[in-house]
Amino acid sequence: MSEKLQVEAIQQGTVIDHIPAGQGIRILKRLHLESAGKRITVGMNLPSQNHGLKDIIKVEGRMFTEDEAHQLALFAPSATINVIDDYEVVNKFGMQLPDTLVGVFPCPNSNCISLNEPVNSYFYISVKGEADSGDAQVKMRCKYCEKSFNKEVVVGN
Ligand code: CTP
Ligand code: ZN
Repeated sequence: MSEKLQVEAIQQGTVIDHIPAGQGIRILKRLHLESAGKRITVGMNLPSQNHGLKDIIKVEGRMFTEDEAHQLALFAPSATINVIDDYEVVNKFGMQLPDTLVGVFPCPNSNCISLNEPVNSYFYISVKGEADSGDAQVKMRCKYCEKSFNKEVVVGN
């Protein structure tokens, strides 16, 4: 563990670390993390080794579902998920984009039939460009209207 803890350590649960500064609140709301009644601590604008400033979210007493981890990958691709047990980091993983995203965001195409039918939205997710060169763009293609959107258009900034 780091020499100086910037937010109190947790005994058991999940720490989302390396969230871009300013995104922490948004992630909290988008994933409805507060609604489970678990103890949550949020650190904002903390100094980070490699990213300038970062946010951090600590959720006690629960793990993230695969679905939540996938949504997180869309909101905060640079984040890491740490699983904590008995005050130790027992698992650490980076974000992995899902291949598809179902029923979370509506299709931005106002003519899309998915908006008027009782169906879940459905996007195929792909990455264009080189992640290393910093110009990677996440694309989301709607299964129903087959239009392709930049991620930001679907999930917001
Ligand atoms: N953490 C926590 N409670 C614990 C153990 C760790 O809240 N009982 C938090 C730490 O504050 C840190 C994150 O979990 O934000 C990851 O912990 P650790 O791997 O020890 O920190 P680093 O080595 O700094 O992680 P990284 O290399 O991913 O930056
Ligand atoms: Zn559509």
